[in-house]
Amino acid sequence: MNAVTPVLEVDELVRHFTTKDFLGREVHRVRAVDGVSFTVAPGETLGLVGESGSGKSTTGRLVLRLDDPTEGRIRFEGQDITHLNAAQLLAVRRKMQVVFQDPFSSLNPRMRVGDAVAEPLKSHRILKTAAERHERVAQLFQRVGLDPRFAERFPHQFSGGQRQRIGIARALAVSPRLIVADEPITALDVSIQAQIVNLFMDLQQELGMAYLFIAHDLAMVRFLCHRVAVMLRGRIVEMATTEQLFAHPRHPYTQALISAMPIPDPDRELARQRIFYEAVTPPREARLAEVEKGHWVLA
Ligand SMILES: Nc1ncnc2c1ncn2[C@@H]1O[C@H](COP(=O)(O)OP(=O)(O)OP(=O)(O)O)[C@@H](O)[C@H]1O
Ligand SMILES: [Mg+2]
Repeated sequence: MNAVTPVLEVDELVRHFTTKDFLGREVHRVRAVDGVSFTVAPGETLGLVGESGSGKSTTGRLVLRLDDPTEGRIRFEGQDITHLNAAQLLAVRRKMQVVFQDPFSSLNPRMRVGDAVAEPLKSHRILKTAAERHERVAQLFQRVGLDPRFAERFPHQFSGGQRQRIGIARALAVSPRLIVADEPITALDVSIQAQIVNLFMDLQQELGMAYLFIAHDLAMVRFLCHRVAVMLRGRIVEMATTEQLFAHPRHPYTQALISAMPIPDPDRELARQRIFYEAVTPPREARLAEVEKGHWVLA
């Protein structure tokens, strides 16, 4: 282990989903996550990218312990949280928060948004009086770029971008050390996406929390993430610093993803060569090998 304890360590994580017939016999098994290992350092952003169904959200849910792994281990700030029960998880949940793609579905439509943001402060008994919570909510609203007077309103009175700001304020309320963000800008207008990405970056600079950032848009990942892990069919096929990954992608799947990115320069865009890769399930015996310092490729 490094001198600094990682905020998150995931070790050979596995989650299989099985469907059974009416006799209880297993008929189908989805290897959603099939032996995934990575770490996230304090204050670091690790991007998780890959095609739809590659196991990104399942990985996020396992890390948050919203789902139980079939195998493997999850450590948070050095503590093994793989098998903690609901009561034991409470203390961990305070330090590990989530921002979802669609904040609307996670906000109670009948609750004023200020109360929604104050709720974790109350349930974790961080601030005991309503006046203190009110004050903190106003600060949080300001911090995410919302008028504190909006706290009195209901979710439907906001735009998508504003709702995502509310979702971020709610995650920030308890001062977490890790935020798992699952496609937090995918549902937003393109014009709003950059604002929200910038907000994530500013908040990290100021507050120093780590992010596990699940995303589709590679341009955004390149801009936001310190390191990137590329997932394919439940496995990580490549993991590297952002510079390494975009300068020297090694796995053909990563090369195909990067070659599909539009280039903002029209001349270079015209000359851009697409690399196609027929996705195949990585062989079970394949292991990540370090090809240069900090750059791992499944082979
Ligand atoms: N509760 C579940 N029951 C059965 N199968 C599931 C369940 N949750 C996920 N899966 C399957 O596991 C695989 C991985 O799904 P997951 O949602 O993690 O992918 P993803 O990478 O987040 O995809 P997307 O980019 O579309 O969000 C998929 O094949 C999915 O159908
Ligand atoms: Mg997903």
